Formats: sequence, C-alpha cells, structure tokens
Amino acid sequence: MALVNENYLKLPGSYLFSEIARRVNQFKKDNPDSEIIRLGIGDVTLPLPPAVVKAMKKAMEEMGRQETFRGYGPEQGYEFLTEKIIENDFRPRGIDLTPDEVFISDGAKSDTANFQELFGINNTLAVSDPVYPVYVDSNVMAGRTGPVNSKGQFEKIVYLSCTEANGMKPPLPETKVDMIYLCFPNNPTGMTLSKEALKKWVDYARANQSIILFDAAYEAYIREDNVPHSIFEIEGAREVAVEFRSFSKTAGFTGTRCAHTIVPKELMAYDSNGRAISLNQLWLRRQTTKFNGVSYPVQVGAAAVYSEEGKKQVRDTVDYYMENARIIRNGLEDAGYRVFGGTNAPYIWLKTPNNMSSWDFFDKLMQKANVVGTPGAGFGASGEGYFRLTAFGTRENTERAVELIRDRM
Ligand code: MLT
Repeated sequence: MALVNENYLKLPGSYLFSEIARRVNQFKKDNPDSEIIRLGIGDVTLPLPPAVVKAMKKAMEEMGRQETFRGYGPEQGYEFLTEKIIENDFRPRGIDLTPDEVFISDGAKSDTANFQELFGINNTLAVSDPVYPVYVDSNVMAGRTGPVNSKGQFEKIVYLSCTEANGMKPPLPETKVDMIYLCFPNNPTGMTLSKEALKKWVDYARANQSIILFDAAYEAYIREDNVPHSIFEIEGAREVAVEFRSFSKTAGFTGTRCAHTIVPKELMAYDSNGRAISLNQLWLRRQTTKFNGVSYPVQVGAAAVYSEEGKKQVRDTVDYYMENARIIRNGLEDAGYRVFGGTNAPYIWLKTPNNMSSWDFFDKLMQKANVVGTPGAGFGASGEGYFRLTAFGTRENTERAVELIRDRM
C-alpha cells in the first residue's frame, strides 16, 4: 500500500491563489454578465518587451537550423545570461559575483520553494507574518513544521508579526532560528527595509549561524534612496544570505518563466559534526539532478532585457505599473482607506473598513464593485483585517477599479 506524505495533509485544502480563482469562477458562473477586474494575483498584463520578443524569435530560428541547434544547456544557465545579470544588476551596486554564483531557473516561486531542501529537517524557521505562502507551505510539505492551529499558524514556525505598530517591519526573532525568509520590497505589504534595518538581520544571522533566504523579486520597483536592492549591498551578507530574483514582474515573464538565484561561495551550513558545507555546491548538486535548465530561447530573451532598448522598455513597463500603484494608493486614500505600500512596490496593502474580515471584504468587493483582490488573511494571521491590490492591471482597469471602489463600497 502506497502511503502519502502526510505533511501535505497539514496544509489547507488549496493554495491561496487557487482558492481565489475558484471563488472568482463561481461568481462568474452565477453572474455571467459581470465584468470582473482582477487585481488579485500579482500577474502582469503588459506584453513582453519588443527587444525580448525579437531576441527570442531569432533564438527559435537558431533552434530550427542544424548548424545552430542546441540540446540540453548547462543546468545552472548559460554564461551569456549570468554575465549580463552580474554586469547590470550587481556590479553597479558594488557587488562582485562570479557566474557560478548565479543560477538561472524557471521562477523565484520554485526556487524559494525548493531551496529549503538543502536544510536539515530539524532546523527552525522564521517568516514575516503576513508572508508569501510559498515559504511556509514548502516547509510544511517537507515536514519541518507541526500541525496548524486555529489561527492558521504552523507549530515550530516562528512568525514575526508585521503590524501598523512596528511599521510592518518584522522584528528580530526572540529565539535563535536557523532559516529566515525575508522578502523586500515586501509581498504582500509593499513595505521596504532601510539599509540599517537590513544590516540588523545580517548581523543576527552572522551571530546565530542562520541563513537568510532573501526574496528580491520586486527590487526593480524601489524608488527611494537608502533602500537596498540586494541583500549583498550589506557587509557580511555573502556569508549568510541567498537571494532570489525574477524576470516575471519586470519584463513580463510570468508566462515565459525565467529567474535567478544568487548563492555566494562563502555561504555555509553545517553537518551534524559541525563541518561547514557549501550551499553553492549543494544547490548545484540539487539543480543538476532535478532540473534541466531554462530553455535557450527564453534565456536569450532574458539576456535581451539588458540590451539598451531592452533596459528602456523594462523601465517603461515598471514606470507604467508604478503609475498604477500611485493611482490606487491616492484613489483609496481619497476614499478614506488607510493604505500602505505602493511607493517602492507594485502592491498596495489596505486596512479593511470597520474591521471587516479580509475574506468578507473580498466577497463584498467582488459582489458590489466587481473587483478582485487578495484577502490579507490568506498571507497569515497578521494579515487578517487587511487586503492587497496589485498594480499589475491595465491602466484602464486600474482607473475603473478605483472608481468602482470609491462609488460602490
Ligand atoms: C502574488 O500575487 O503574490 C504573486 O503573483 C505570487 C507569485 O509571484 O507567485
């Protein structure tokens, strides 16, 4: 008899965004004439930049010719892409990386979910609350937690509550933890950490031999100075951090899939005899075994993001979404909502009126305004009473959504 991995049974029945999709589909079935505006899942709406499309087409042509055809590529990505990433995203910020510290992958979601495999099952972990659910769910699946309680929190996870009182910044853990997930600019709150605040995390990790899993998928949205784009801008971070980045939210790759993860060579975890083991080597071992790399045309497309025209087109895309963020933020503020985020991030986090629960607000917003967002409670206990809207819609839908919220809610 085949037994299941019972850790899966600890999880709620469906993943947050699948549950939202299910509710929206039901609503559409019951109300076939309603036009729904989707500002729920952070999926982009602008097409791939023309420079990317041109490069991908050319790469496809190469794949169709005997002389230029390519089969399996290096599992960790082609150097033509890793070198461009280093040269454009890291070196100008004073960060030196070698190509074998950059691992190309099919998404920051899969990498943040998979990286925990490198760690011992008895490691303790800390997450911000609210939190991108992938960090928690992947550790639950692996068996690193106990059961869930009535607040939706798993035993053995240290939840770092981000509230209005602490400016939505996670406090340092009071106990020693081994793995720490941080996401800045934050999904879902849209808030950021200053260099000084991030340094405290790096110092904590160095003092406690912890590893920080730093999700920087939204770094391109940072507008203010003194907000670090990479954790490696902080001294000592190479010894304690891995960083996840993505082309999804900047160059429209949510459907195309390309991301990268930085695993510095100094980054060590320990075996039970106290021997230091390179996480760069373990991740390479993991990726070469379980992953066959991102397709050649997609990596060529990602490299084109760094051409002069590609950079300009991506900048325009990011500006477009940030203008949406401004429209949502200002519109909601004018309508009397308390809002957070949206200035260095494509997410706007709002307090639900009259302490309404997040899911009740979700239902009301969908039914009365035909706008879909994401209930804060879906991101954790501290998200209850809050709600997230994304700036990734079209301009027309964004403006219309703000109007509908103002007029009908
Ligand atoms: C979100 O809406 O939080 C994102 O789309 C999640 C993701 O990128 O997987």
